[in-house]
Amino acid sequence: MDQYERVLQAAHSVRKTTDFVPEVAIVLGSGLGALADKVEDPIVIPAAEIEGYKVSTVSGHAGRLIFGTLAGKKVVVQQGRIHYYEGYEMGDVVLPVRLMCALGAKTVILTNAAGGVNESYRPGDFMVIRGQIAQFVPSPLRGANDERFGTRFPDMSEIYSRPLISLAKEVAKEAGVTLREGVYLQASGPNYESPEEIRAFRILGADAVGMSTAVEAIAAKHMGREVLGISLITNMAAGIAGPLSHEEVKEAADRAGRAFIALVHGVIAKI
Ligand code: HPA
Repeated sequence: MDQYERVLQAAHSVRKTTDFVPEVAIVLGSGLGALADKVEDPIVIPAAEIEGYKVSTVSGHAGRLIFGTLAGKKVVVQQGRIHYYEGYEMGDVVLPVRLMCALGAKTVILTNAAGGVNESYRPGDFMVIRGQIAQFVPSPLRGANDERFGTRFPDMSEIYSRPLISLAKEVAKEAGVTLREGVYLQASGPNYESPEEIRAFRILGADAVGMSTAVEAIAAKHMGREVLGISLITNMAAGIAGPLSHEEVKEAADRAGRAFIALVHGVIAKI
């Protein structure tokens, strides 16, 4: 079965429960989990009820979609991201994003925790993604193309919506939150990068590094959606400060959670 058929099948599973049509899709990264609790009149669909939807093995949440209202907008929130490093194919990794778009979402907000590659960044900073480097992981569009998703060779010169970047900056300013603007590089993980890789990534133009997001952005852009990406810098990337630990990343994400939520909430209100 091709990827488009898989998404149709997954959408069919969701439609057995709800005919809710979201305007905005939000993928929650580390530290943003609590945003899901803010969704009003939630309709929760566990991954296990959605045909073809893989179950994330890493996060505390088994994976689910939450439909409802947030900041006055009809949203769908993906909790429990599926990562390439878990061993899944890129088609599985981006299925939730494609599904949320197929269900109606016109705007996709991708969030993540990331390491700061730009040495002027500090843990706790936020970064709105202006551009990305995704060539260190396979493209989610590899394999037969279904024109119903989008064209075979889609343009990627402006993956991230300029108007949404401006909006995020506006909201950050009002909220008194430091928001950088930079380039996100998706590494394959699960190991953190070596200091040598980070130095190379910096030369390539990366400001932040993480293990998600870029392939989801490609899949959403392929479908012609407006994409916004926001990273929380949880740590300085390898070789800049001390050694890295998942605990450090989680703690930093938890600490910044409230500001992260305020930022994303503020952006959704203004879309
Ligand atoms: N590298 C890759 N992924 C990450 C990092 C990092 O330093 N921090 C949070 N996610």
